[in-house]
Amino acid sequence: MGHPAGNGTSPETLVSRREMLGAAAATLGLLAGGGLSSAAGGEEEDSLDSLRGPAGVLWDRVHKQFRLRGGLAYLNNGSLGPCPVQVVQAAIQAWRSLEENPADMAYGPLLEKMEAARTRAAGFLGCATEELAVTGNTTEGMNAVAQGIRLEAGDRILTTDQEHPGGLAGWGYRQKHEGVPVDLAALPTPPASPEAIVESIQRGLTKATRVISVSHVTYTTGLRMPIEAIASLARANGALLVVDGAQAPGVLDVDVTRLGCDAYATSAHKWMLAPKGTGLLYVRKESQERIAPLLLQHGYRSYTASTGTRNVPALIGLGAAVEFLQRLGKIDIERRALTLRTHLYEVLQTLPGIQVVSPPPGDLASSLLTFTLPNGKQPAAVAKTLAEEYGVIVRVMSHGNVQGIRVSTHIYNSEADLDRLVSSLRKGLGK
Ligand SMILES: Cc1ncc(COP(=O)(O)O)c(C=O)c1O
Repeated sequence: MGHPAGNGTSPETLVSRREMLGAAAATLGLLAGGGLSSAAGGEEEDSLDSLRGPAGVLWDRVHKQFRLRGGLAYLNNGSLGPCPVQVVQAAIQAWRSLEENPADMAYGPLLEKMEAARTRAAGFLGCATEELAVTGNTTEGMNAVAQGIRLEAGDRILTTDQEHPGGLAGWGYRQKHEGVPVDLAALPTPPASPEAIVESIQRGLTKATRVISVSHVTYTTGLRMPIEAIASLARANGALLVVDGAQAPGVLDVDVTRLGCDAYATSAHKWMLAPKGTGLLYVRKESQERIAPLLLQHGYRSYTASTGTRNVPALIGLGAAVEFLQRLGKIDIERRALTLRTHLYEVLQTLPGIQVVSPPPGDLASSLLTFTLPNGKQPAAVAKTLAEEYGVIVRVMSHGNVQGIRVSTHIYNSEADLDRLVSSLRKGLGK
């Protein structure tokens, strides 16, 4: 399996000599103890309070909190999201404090800050602090759950044909080493309705199915799965529902308790805009007896005998990222990101030969959108041209019969980024 990120582009090709000199000076400023704001070209970060006006979130001001390279239309948040400057500052500050007296700081005041970040994240996801563990990413969370579910001989796992390898690895391991059968439900692409998805899961169920494992939002086409309905189905069949939530919290208004799943793993470094290598794992209180990974044997705290020492600055940055998102508001963020996505959906209809394979705007849509190219055009080559010649960063999607380009829209993007994608595609495809 290839890692999601790549389109083989060297980002350096986008940087002018002047920008490179600026970046070098900025780095020196940072190393010399200068604040990140001076390192980022003289722009101060705004206070969180100032990101909202009387009429709602000031999205233009939100854009300015991100330090993407000048001229880049970054449309690949589904692989990794950028941190706003407030998050980078919080992490750097924590790192500086940590290095002043490592052990005392890591297991003293900074451990308390990591715990505060976990509590804040639990509030953000709609669960109790004691139901939420910090991890490094979704893959780690999904693997821990797969490892920690007690199964008996004959028990089966049901998942879908649209899962990311990171959500599947743990089940594959149990299949390989314990012979646990893993069944695949074929999801319609695109599905006609949420009911059509639930039916496809239902068709895959057997009396022996003990676990249903699905993505909240598929990485392939951004299909937003009807998790609440699948949770009811799982419960009625005595199965646990495990959700790979890599592509949802931070952009969609996710409440894990409301979803009704038993476990939910996510990566904070995607849509939650947190430092790279941070993630969260929710295990419902009532399900903790049945899902008992070694990682959680000594409880859910940020440091336990099962987890050992963590990346302290990154976890404190995670707390700052959640605060940033909370100040903007989950509902407003979702609305903004989906407005951008609808704009993209509409402008893509004007391009001959392009076919959107993601659901139309509505219940099944998310902030990921995938389209296929006209005959004879290779997604990897087109993505490379977009990046190198137009500064537009997208992800190549290659999964079964989904072969195309995936675009992510988050709050730091604008309609102008999407229009640039479309005009670049129009020019690029003509080559
Ligand atoms: C649905 C899904 N699951 C898991 C992952 C793996 O994420 P991570 O590398 O953060 O563990 C991804 C990454 O794109 C994903 O889209």
